[in-house]
Amino acid sequence: MTDKRLVVLAGDGIGPEVTEAALQVLDEVRRQAGFSVEIVHGLLGGVAIDAAGSPFPEATRNLVDAGDPVLLGAVGGPKWETGTVRPEQGLLAIRKHMGLWANLRPFEVFPGLEDWSPLRRPNARGIVIRELTGGLYFGEPRLRRQIDGEWEAVDTLSYRQSEIARIARLGFETARRKGTPLVSVDKANILESSRLWRETVEEICKEFPDVAVVHRYVDAAAMEMVARPELYQVVVTENLFGDILSDLAGGLVGSLGLLGSASVRGPVGTPGLYEPVHGSAPDIAGRGVANPVGAILSLAMLTGWSWNEPELEAQIVSAVRRTLRDGRRTRDLGGDLTTAQFTEAVIEAIKGGEER
Ligand code: NAD
Ligand code: IPM
Ligand code: MN
Repeated sequence: MTDKRLVVLAGDGIGPEVTEAALQVLDEVRRQAGFSVEIVHGLLGGVAIDAAGSPFPEATRNLVDAGDPVLLGAVGGPKWETGTVRPEQGLLAIRKHMGLWANLRPFEVFPGLEDWSPLRRPNARGIVIRELTGGLYFGEPRLRRQIDGEWEAVDTLSYRQSEIARIARLGFETARRKGTPLVSVDKANILESSRLWRETVEEICKEFPDVAVVHRYVDAAAMEMVARPELYQVVVTENLFGDILSDLAGGLVGSLGLLGSASVRGPVGTPGLYEPVHGSAPDIAGRGVANPVGAILSLAMLTGWSWNEPELEAQIVSAVRRTLRDGRRTRDLGGDLTTAQFTEAVIEAIKGGEER
């Protein structure tokens, strides 16, 4: 296997704790497969505001411009909530800068966690494909103004047809590969942008005559994902709805700490940003008890997508699955393992190989 490079932006709160866990797992698979990884660390979020005055400083921009994949922890925290510039702006800026319009957020009730998931059905799994560089997160204008002696705040929800078309295509391709219908989630009964979304999805659908598409309003989708998760195996949706529904998926599988994600702009082999779905979890930060699975699975997606090494991805995912199946759990899953102890168990599972 050829030598690799990787940028790590650990960020704030539990970010450094869970990225460290992922890097330890990487070191084990790297050692076994016999390749080297050059790891460059950079600053993003609150730590970058403190050190460089910006949540996405120029030095970090230069790092990611080299074209290597990025492993990210999480950004944000109470320390920066009242500042004029927020850590989360750094996250939006890096996604936009890298052109990462597609955010893949798989979820699964892992074997061994059926008792912990609120779902009645074991083995529920799916993926939320979230549009990542449009919608309310980026629309202009975004401002506050005085109206009739009081403040009014304005955010703008806009989508271009081309932005909808490319994420819809990715949705159809994914549904085709999995042999399931595509569920497109919008609010077309109210929003003009959602009406364009639905029309565009219908247009792209013609390119995929073998794939069925189902349209759902987001409120009904939230209900149905809980009540009938088997219908939601491939979901495509706009930025904010995808943010919300992917946290809902975290609840479905038993913990937000279990979800990894990949933010990409092109096919396998292209650069991407890989981060857990959860945030910086200030309530547990610094205690060494965070669940590192989201970060480890994000690393797995990085090896499969950006490095195009599917067997590394499978090896890491399999080790996580076996560790959970064996009843090893961090506190969010009702267990008592620390982040380090759980990570050690994953590394042991990798050492033990497939047939343990
Ligand atoms: P959060 O995801 O950080 O935490 C929500 C709840 O889930 C908390 O109770 C937390 O303890 C728990 N949790 C999250 N990850 C966990 C893990 N790996 N193991 C165990 N428990 C875990 O969301 P929040 O509290 O709403 O936000 C906190 C900060 O994180 C905010 O500043 C927010 O903007 C930021 N945030 C960042 C990202 C990101 O960097 N991608 C994502 C979401 C939120
Ligand atoms: C996520 C987070 C971010 C988002 C925030 C921190 C900007 O919630 O990655 O899900 O809303 O995209
Ligand atoms: Mn979120």
